[in-house]
This record gives sequence, C-alpha cells and structure tokens, in this order.
Amino acid sequence: MSASASGPASSPTAPAALLPPLPSVATATPIIKPTDLRGILRYVPRFQGQIFVLAIDGAIVADENFGNLLVDIAVLRSLDIKVVLVHGIGHQLSELSRQRDIAISNVDGTGPTDAATLDLAIRASSRVSHAILEGLTQNSLKCAITNAVRALPIGILKGVEQQHTGRVDRIDKDFLTHLIDRDIVPIIQPIGYGPEGHSYRINSDLLAAEVGEALGASKVIYLGALAGLEIHGEIKRDLPVERLRQILKETPGAVSPVALSKALNAIRALETGVARVHLVDGRIFDGLINEIFSNEGVGTLIYANDYQQIRQARRADVRMIYNLTRAAVKREELLYRTQATIEKNIEQFYVFEIDENIIGCVTLAFYADKPQLAEVGSLYVLPFYQNRGIGRKLIEYACLRAKEKGATQVLALSTQSYSFFTSVMNFDEASPAVLPEARLKTYAESGRNPKVLLKTL
Ligand SMILES: CC(C)(COP(=O)(O)OP(=O)(O)OC[C@H]1O[C@@H](n2cnc3c(N)ncnc32)[C@H](O)[C@@H]1OP(=O)(O)O)[C@@H](O)C(=O)NCCC(=O)NCCS
Repeated sequence: MSASASGPASSPTAPAALLPPLPSVATATPIIKPTDLRGILRYVPRFQGQIFVLAIDGAIVADENFGNLLVDIAVLRSLDIKVVLVHGIGHQLSELSRQRDIAISNVDGTGPTDAATLDLAIRASSRVSHAILEGLTQNSLKCAITNAVRALPIGILKGVEQQHTGRVDRIDKDFLTHLIDRDIVPIIQPIGYGPEGHSYRINSDLLAAEVGEALGASKVIYLGALAGLEIHGEIKRDLPVERLRQILKETPGAVSPVALSKALNAIRALETGVARVHLVDGRIFDGLINEIFSNEGVGTLIYANDYQQIRQARRADVRMIYNLTRAAVKREELLYRTQATIEKNIEQFYVFEIDENIIGCVTLAFYADKPQLAEVGSLYVLPFYQNRGIGRKLIEYACLRAKEKGATQVLALSTQSYSFFTSVMNFDEASPAVLPEARLKTYAESGRNPKVLLKTL
C-alpha cells in the first residue's frame, strides 16, 4: 500500500467547502448560485454516510476536465459522502503501446493479457494512480493506493488461455472500510494480486461493480467519455434494470458497443445490491455533481426495482382503499371520494402492499387537454407505516409512470402536506393558472383552496 497523507479532509457537511471549481476549459463561467446550493443541500441528509464507488476511465484522467472532477469529489467528501475510486487504464495503455511500439493483446482487460501487455498495464496503472494522487492531494484529500483486490487467473475461456487476465477472488472489505472510516479515499487499480504475489489485469468496469457489492455501496458511478447509455441511437436518461436486461437479451445490438461493458456491469452491480448505477460523461464540467444532485441528471441512471410492493389497483381493492383513506378524509387531509368514484377511477390508483395488505395508495391522472401534465393525488400511508420512505416511493413511482407515459411535469394539490411535496419530493409551489381548464373549475368549486405544487420530470 502506498499512501498520500497531505493534510486533513474537508470538514463534513460544511457548505463553505462548495467553492467555485478550478477554471475549466470545458465551460467559461464556473458559478455556483445560491439556488444550486439549496438544491444540493436537499439531498445531503439522504446521501450522508453512504458509499459511492466512482469508476473513472483512463480517458477521463487524461481529459482537461479531470481537475474539475477532482473538485467535485472533494465536494462529495465535504458533504460526508464516502468515496472509493476505481480507475481504468485503457487510454494510457494504448498510448504506451504506441509510444513504445509494443503490440498489446487486449486493451480493456476483457480478453487475454500477454506478458508484454501486463507489463505496460502495470506502468499505465501507476501513471494513472499517480495523477489521481496528485489531484486529490491538491484538493487536500487523504488517499491510498491499495492491494485490497485479491485476484485469480481467469484461465481458459472457449479454448483460449487468458494468460495474465484475472477475475476478482475477494475484495478486502475490512481494509477498505478501515480507510474510509478514517477519511482516506481508497484508490483501486485495475490490477489484482494473486495469493502468490502475481499481478492480474482486471477490467475496471467489472471491478467497480465488485467493489460496490463488497462495500454495500449505494451508487456505482461510471465516469467515461460517453454522454450516457445509448440505446437504438438515443441516450436514455433513466432506465429500470429489468428493462436493460430485457434489451440486452432481446436486441443486444441496440446498446452502443462502447457502452456495453458498462451496461453489463451495471446490471451485475444492481443484481448484487447496489441501488443505483450512473453513467456520466466525465468530460463535462460539473457533470458528476449535476448527475447526483439534480432531478434531471446529465447522464444515465439505471436503477434497481425499489417498487416491487407497488402495483396498479384492481376493482377488488375498492373497499380497502375507501377504508384506508377514510381517516385522512375526516382530518381533511384528503378529498372525499365515494366508493363508486374510486371504482370508476380505479385504473388511476396504485397501492403499496405489505403481506397482501394495502397500507398506502396514490393516484395518477392525465388530462386530455394537457397531455404533458400529470397529477398525483390521494396520497396516503397508514400512520403505523409512516416515516419509512413509503410515501416517497409512491410519489417517485407515480412520477416514473407519468414520465413513461410522456408527461414532462407532475402536479399535486395539497392542503396540509404541501411541505412533504416541497421539502421531501422537490416540488415547487406554482400558480393555479398551470391547471388545465377543466381542472381549474373543479379546483375552484372544491372550496378547499389547496396549494398547487409542480415538479418537472
Ligand atoms: C404525507 C405522507 C403520505 C408521507 O408518507 P410517509 O410514508 O410517512 O413519508 P416518507 O416516509 O416517504 O417520508 C418521510 C419524510 O417526509 C416528512 N413528512 C411526512 N409527512 C409530512 C407532512 N405531512 N408534511 C411535511 N413533511 C412530511 C417526514 O418528516 C420525513 O422527512 P425526513 O425524510 O426529512 O425525515 C403521510 O404522512 C400521510 O399519509 N399523511 C396523511 C395524508 C396526507 O396528508 N396526504 C397528502 C395529501 S396531498
């Protein structure tokens, strides 16, 4: 293990650490507005103490935006988000091969690695790790290059000896946790070490997924020279993992070849417990921060199914929904709906089930005269189950459904729980003028005078 100990990490949760980034060649005006800060701080309690694995391609370490990316990493640390860096070396390996006129057997660690390629890979790896050490030092972050990845040779695949290409045998979780707990950022090279001391080349996308699993990371973020995950020529902004799995099974050619390794390893990470995988263009100024701290994001988010317990309501659920919401109607938290009205609009209801009991619900409605707008309503969670994230999941799920159906904005009308929508779900207060004409009429007639809340998807 070699370590750089260059002074203390930034103090946790100090917004003062959100300093303007280094001058960037990628953009002219590096200004963080107070509104951006407020936006970021909304997410802080959610991410504090969590582990994010950042997988940085070699091409990004060589990019002119790398200095800004390091500042973004320092911002994450200052917000008490724990960071582990896994880096690639493809770019540097190709460069060394050209400079020294040595042919390489494989560039990304997915095919056979001959002895000459392994030698260049080790050199490329120390160059990249060194650049990261320098950059983190410049940002007052302590870091350490580790031998936490135990590797074994892959062996023979389809009759081909893979030579010095390895697979992960074991990640030394205790070692990495020990560093993280002491505010030291672990740097993991795409080289693993066999028990006999031999080095093996490992693909860094795969390694990041494995590290994410071992550490129970909440996010793996791939920072490459890609605008996001391109499917059928179009960059997807968010995608459930089942959908990606289905696409890769049915039409594998739909995923652009340059993103394939990241797509496959994203699935691997999500299948082993990582909740979110992002693909972000590491060449974009503020790309990492925007991806993490904004609703829209700038790359692609692939997410595990957090919503298994939510399903569309059926006619048989009408009585249960009616009984469920009765108490909230009495307290004027919800609008009164007869059983007949619930039944008539049953396809708008989604319910949250625990052991086949409905304990929460939400509605999602669309307007013929304003198809880009959807409305969420009748949000209710039984008191015993409140404050466990169920209300948030119901709204997130309704927003995903709305987006899938082509809506660009979601609105909610609320009399008593508007601060749930504004402070927890990032809705903004809006004027009733945003309501479609017919809805404006029922809004006025209800006499409840709810606040109008709007969220852009
Ligand atoms: C509003 C409601 C759906 C929230 O559901 P929930 O499952 O308890 O919410 P979650 O667990 O996902 O979120 C918890 C967070 O929301 C906040 N929150 C919960 N109810 C809130 C409310 N009425 N106003 C403001 N914030 C609220 C909690 O303080 C907590 O914040 P934190 O994460 O910063 O600690 C639930 O309280 C409820 O059913 N209330 C009665 C019905 C109602 O008012 N519905 C809204 C009609 S528009």
